[in-house]
Amino acid sequence: EKGGYDTFMAKEIAEQPKAVSDTLLGRIGTDGRLKLDEMRLTDAELREVDKVVVIACGTAYHSGMVAKYAIEHWTRIPTEVELASEFRYRDPVVGPRTLVIAISQSGETMDTIMALRFAREQGAKVLAICNTQGSTIPRESDAVVYTYAGPEVAVASTKAFLTQIVACYLVALYVAQVRGNKYGDEIAAVVRELQDMPRKVDLVLDTTEEMKRIADELKDAPSVLFIGRHVGFPVALEGALKLKELAYMHAEGFAAGELKHGPIALLEDGVPVIVVVPSPAGRSVLHEKIISNIQEVRARGARTIVIAEEGDEAVVPYADTIVRIPACPTLLQPLVATVPLQVFAAAMATAKGLDVDQPRNLAKSVTVE
Ligand code: F6R
Repeated sequence: EKGGYDTFMAKEIAEQPKAVSDTLLGRIGTDGRLKLDEMRLTDAELREVDKVVVIACGTAYHSGMVAKYAIEHWTRIPTEVELASEFRYRDPVVGPRTLVIAISQSGETMDTIMALRFAREQGAKVLAICNTQGSTIPRESDAVVYTYAGPEVAVASTKAFLTQIVACYLVALYVAQVRGNKYGDEIAAVVRELQDMPRKVDLVLDTTEEMKRIADELKDAPSVLFIGRHVGFPVALEGALKLKELAYMHAEGFAAGELKHGPIALLEDGVPVIVVVPSPAGRSVLHEKIISNIQEVRARGARTIVIAEEGDEAVVPYADTIVRIPACPTLLQPLVATVPLQVFAAAMATAKGLDVDQPRNLAKSVTVE
């Protein structure tokens, strides 16, 4: 049932191109317009939304962080993302014009269920992004956009994460389409780019052997840091979460610009720092900034493993190791940048002789608050 792979996680990582393409299937018309059949919220309701709040836990929360960048950029609706376990205990401002997006692979995560119930009590509309048909979260929501990752068996989420991000893009682009905005032309171009992402996710699987080699070299490191900016920040957090879960190692993700405000004190000779480099195209400011962040960590003796686009030569002088990912628009980059980090975490666990599919202390679905 592992289809020739050693672990379910390896199989599920390899299934990501298909998971992404299945999640796009039937949702983009030949005219490039989006159709979300299970959306159920009317155009009038979507036009009234004045705030979006994304609630989720763990890996799904990281997809929600990506969603915030996409929704604010394409729709101009102020968007917050919050851990479901924190949301209802802090008297959040939600009302009938708030769209709450609850993201969950299992659809049974109690923290997320309780948060969505609270949101509905306040009169908010809840849209679920979920991988499990008929589970509690979509059943209790006003609308649903299913992800089509297929069953995810490994405890650590991989393909569900990529499809959650895809669903978030679809929702953001759909809302932008309904409301119309100044980014109209950009949206058509992004939709075309999105359709090309399964191919790029497939290409990035070629980094697998390289990531395993890097993991073998780093398996005794006391800790690994991950840094990124913009959507590379949630990717860094996700890379660190995977490593904690699977290899039981100290790992932390940071917004690269935040390092100098404290965490840089952690750096000493040889500490591995994995850097998610934003696309150089069109957003050169962000790219320049990360280069200075890489210089900062290198000057403190860090060993830099740089995840950068094909053709990005500017990073070469600052990288001890470069891992190449296919070029794509910055907002879409998490779909390719996350994959080597998933492979890395699994390879670290394997190198340490740990159970990749069933890490200690974790359950696939967390049904208690
Ligand atoms: C991480 C992981 C967990 C889940 C979290 C939410 O690899 O699997 O962090 O992402 O427990 O679960 P769902 O998405 O089922 O609500």
